[in-house]
Amino acid sequence: MYRTHTCGELRIEHAGTQVALSGWVQRSRQFGGMTFIDLRDRYGITQLVFNMETDPDLCKQANDLGREYVIQVKGSVRERSNKNPNLPTGDIEIETTELNVLNKSDVPPFTIEAETDGGDDLRMRYRYLDLRRPSVQQNIILRHRLAQEARKFLCDNNFLEIETPFLIKSTPEGARDFVVPSRMNAGQFYALPQSPQTFKQLLMVSGYDRYFQIVRCFRDEDLRADRQPEFTQIDCEMSFVDQDDVLNMFENLLKHLFKFVMGKDLGDVERMSYADAMRLYGIDKPDTRFGMTFTELNDLAQNKGFKIFDAAELVVGICAEGCAGYSRKQLNALTDWVKRPQIGAKGLVYVKYNEDGSFKSSVDKFYNQEDLKAWADKMGAKPGDLLLVLSGATEKVRKQLGQLRLHMGSELGLRKADEFKALWVLNFPLLEWDEDSERWFACHHPFTRPQKGFEQIENWGDIKADAYDLVLNGNEIAGGSIRIHERDLQEKVFDLLGMSKEESESKFGFLMGAFEYGAPPHGGIAFGFDRLCAIFGGAESIRDFIAFPKNNSGRDTMIDAPSPIDDEQYTELHIQPGAELVE
Ligand code: AMO
Repeated sequence: MYRTHTCGELRIEHAGTQVALSGWVQRSRQFGGMTFIDLRDRYGITQLVFNMETDPDLCKQANDLGREYVIQVKGSVRERSNKNPNLPTGDIEIETTELNVLNKSDVPPFTIEAETDGGDDLRMRYRYLDLRRPSVQQNIILRHRLAQEARKFLCDNNFLEIETPFLIKSTPEGARDFVVPSRMNAGQFYALPQSPQTFKQLLMVSGYDRYFQIVRCFRDEDLRADRQPEFTQIDCEMSFVDQDDVLNMFENLLKHLFKFVMGKDLGDVERMSYADAMRLYGIDKPDTRFGMTFTELNDLAQNKGFKIFDAAELVVGICAEGCAGYSRKQLNALTDWVKRPQIGAKGLVYVKYNEDGSFKSSVDKFYNQEDLKAWADKMGAKPGDLLLVLSGATEKVRKQLGQLRLHMGSELGLRKADEFKALWVLNFPLLEWDEDSERWFACHHPFTRPQKGFEQIENWGDIKADAYDLVLNGNEIAGGSIRIHERDLQEKVFDLLGMSKEESESKFGFLMGAFEYGAPPHGGIAFGFDRLCAIFGGAESIRDFIAFPKNNSGRDTMIDAPSPIDDEQYTELHIQPGAELVE
């Protein structure tokens, strides 16, 4: 028997018990004829003691152990004279009587500890060692618990877990497909699913009225901290539901996860229209942990001789509470911040609402104290506050102010990692115009149901969809919609998207065909599972919550993928070896 207990298990009540433990040597210290070794496994750390006086051979053997050696020890549990209150096993140690080296280890390229000296690249290359670090293990364990609790909730609510294929035909959802050449069908390719969207809809047609799957999705898009080329969704679909049914079910799922994984009460999940989110926060995924909502000032700020505001489509500001004392240096820094190319504002107008009730602004030339008081009143400001105002084209300026709001929120410590606010964003537009390709795209995806009466709406940008996003602390953690379940409506929407009849038939004929055999009304949602894990873990990057992630160039540097294939494989796959690379 390799072990009777784990390294996180033994307590003072085990004193006197004979035990066997197996694990990795975390570190070793020699101290006045004694050797102490911290033995680690995924459950914790237990201190082993070897005594040069009572058993010199064993102690010498212990002194030869290197970091990360895998060993088995036997011995008895005893109370420690020098207790460590920071360790759950800190009251005891093992008086070792037998030591077996199960395997040696080279000196690891970085320290296997919470605060490691290894940089990103090194840790990615030796991910199997990085995964030994307790902090990373906690993330992976958190992910496991979230998956189990999600499964439990969904099973208890009658959802069936059904697998859908990975080798499919492309399902456009806004990103590029990863493609796989077919050996048996020369010149033809599978695509890896960007999501199981069409399959889950087909399952509804088949009568499996509640489906879920914790499923890998593949998207060949540019990577960021919250994006990976392969990522995981908790993908769900329901039949005979309207939007409210879906929202209620999945906010309950989120509440369940909070309660059973975090031991926290999430509280109410607010609902807000996309239009309000844009008007009040300048973004479709507002962080509602703090206020600082937008106030539009066109009526008060225009026609007072300040040309920049007069020419602007929108003049809009936020009130930073208690910031009237900002120094010139701080205000300059804020102005520089909004002028950075990533934000792109031309300038920033500030108004200090001084404690004595007077105002000092960067536009005092154009506005008197009364004018500025009217701004402050409209913004709900009080003495001691600072008003920050931007102007320009509506969409652009909202985006800029949205970023400034988040920046101020962070500066003022209003975005607390241990506070959680969830929000549904509803009534998304059905379509969005893409300037580059000069065509309409589906905001969510082409299977999303337009709201009633859409045919009468002249401006296609005003057509609304029964689509919804679930936002947690300013992150989009889930998105979904009520679907189209009728062939003629689906054809109409493909038509709006500029797809010819032939194209829609060849791409989605199978789905529209299925709609002709009794497709029930249905709708669903997919959670970005990696993002959910990162937010629950209080982290920005999803990478640390994926056992084997890709780096920013989409590479796995540990196995060295992607990599060239043999000429033979090219031949078998009917593709040209050595085709010239087009940069
Ligand atoms: P959507 O494309 O909005 O919807 O994706 C759902 C959720 O998946 C997460 N996500 C990602 N996470 C990590 N890396 C990525 N590259 C990535 N892309 C998306 C996001 C997002 O909210 N089939 C629809 C769902 C539906 O309509 O039911 C879909 O895939 O958190």
